[in-house]
Amino acid sequence: MSKKATLEVNGKKVEFPVVTGTEKEVAIDIKTLRSATGGIITLDSGFKNTGACESAITFLDGEKGILRYRGYSIEELAEKAHFLEVVYLLIFGDLPTQEQLDKFDSDIKENCIVDDDVKKILDAFPRSAHPMGVLSSLTSALTAFYPSSVDITSEEDMYNSIVHILGKFPVLVAWTMRKKQGLPLDYGDEELGYVENVMKMMFHLPNKKYVQNQVLVEALDKLLILHAEHEQNCSTSTVRIVGSSRAGLFASLASGISALWGPLHGGANQAVLEMLEAIKADGGDTKKYMAKAKDKNDPFRLMGFGHRVYKNFDPRAKIIKVAADEVLEDLGIEDPVLDIAKGLEQEALKDPYFVERKLYPNVDFYSGVIYRALGLPVEMFTVMFALGRLPGWIAQWKEMRLNKEPIGRPRQLYTGKTYREFVKIKKRGE
Ligand code: CMC
Repeated sequence: MSKKATLEVNGKKVEFPVVTGTEKEVAIDIKTLRSATGGIITLDSGFKNTGACESAITFLDGEKGILRYRGYSIEELAEKAHFLEVVYLLIFGDLPTQEQLDKFDSDIKENCIVDDDVKKILDAFPRSAHPMGVLSSLTSALTAFYPSSVDITSEEDMYNSIVHILGKFPVLVAWTMRKKQGLPLDYGDEELGYVENVMKMMFHLPNKKYVQNQVLVEALDKLLILHAEHEQNCSTSTVRIVGSSRAGLFASLASGISALWGPLHGGANQAVLEMLEAIKADGGDTKKYMAKAKDKNDPFRLMGFGHRVYKNFDPRAKIIKVAADEVLEDLGIEDPVLDIAKGLEQEALKDPYFVERKLYPNVDFYSGVIYRALGLPVEMFTVMFALGRLPGWIAQWKEMRLNKEPIGRPRQLYTGKTYREFVKIKKRGE
């Protein structure tokens, strides 16, 4: 017998179906709430208790620290898979065969040319512009250069749009950095793998032969996998809700990039490194900054700590911490901010404020140390997060469209003035 939840409101009992997901997560399906109760709605600011959709892409258990893409654990994927395989897995549901992967790779490469006129838009930005704003604008601009909308009933059309953006996005990512550094722009090298190509496009100098460093390629590959998808977070929800109005894929992705930019979301990786640098410049006194983070009259927060969903530990942070140690050791780099980060973590793990609130390092806490070792300027950190998250956004957009989800349109509880009569301008202020 199917389970039901009963709500008693205004003296009336109303029943709702209780639905269970494949991992035994339980939800009360309140689709009929308004009609059954005469217009009553739920109020849940920040959507702390609200499931916005059913999704078959990512499973996350915040209490147990579990993260799985399409059923595969993040630990195994980070260790055994390459980014492009994970991209395919997320978007199409299964790990690719070698043949599927080769075709996918070659189709992406076929689509890497960005219309040269996009450079004119890039040129109009001041060099001081934050690369996330530039990337969002350029992604949005792609809709003007490649205007045909995706026919979601055609698998071929959907596939073509996906390889189209997967080909062009890394080029735009590299251009945002090179523009800032005054370096010439190009379209990459089709002989290279996805991540190697990203590295070359970003870092090669016009007067030098670019030599790949395998440690860095593998580190970036792993980071991109760890950032690839994270169910209904702020940017992904944004992509789904923008797409639900039937806005195109590129426009939806551009809005996701803007959402990711904020320091409470993807922008935290930049904020973490700036925070660690500030602590270092201030003499490395971690206790002082712990006290600031706990002081409710001080707006300072320990960036890279806490998570809406993880209330135990963020499994991605565990993997990145180990990777940061390995990368720095392999490259022979000693970075004092890594020691400051570890010191902060140690203090937080035994501090009642952090323990009671279940605040642990998140994905952004240690990633900046690796990005810095790769040679990336701090403003590019969130751009790299966007490059990693691209397949997750695409997979979620595709799922939302194929599930024929209705336009996203939350309700509100109005708390403003009740009806009042219009006052003519001369009478106002009397
Ligand atoms: N430093 C100090 N106190 C904190 C922190 C922090 N980083 N995070 C949460 N708290 C406190 C918060 O003040 C609140 O205390 P109280 O109950 O006394 O009012 C309590 O912990 C619960 O916090 P919340 O803000 O209600 O939790 P939330 O789920 O709304 O916010 C968060 C989650 C990630 C926005 C928040 O923890 C935060 O601002 N962290 C720092 C920014 C950050 O690292 N963001 C990256 C998130 S992971 C990657 C991603 O999403 O892109």
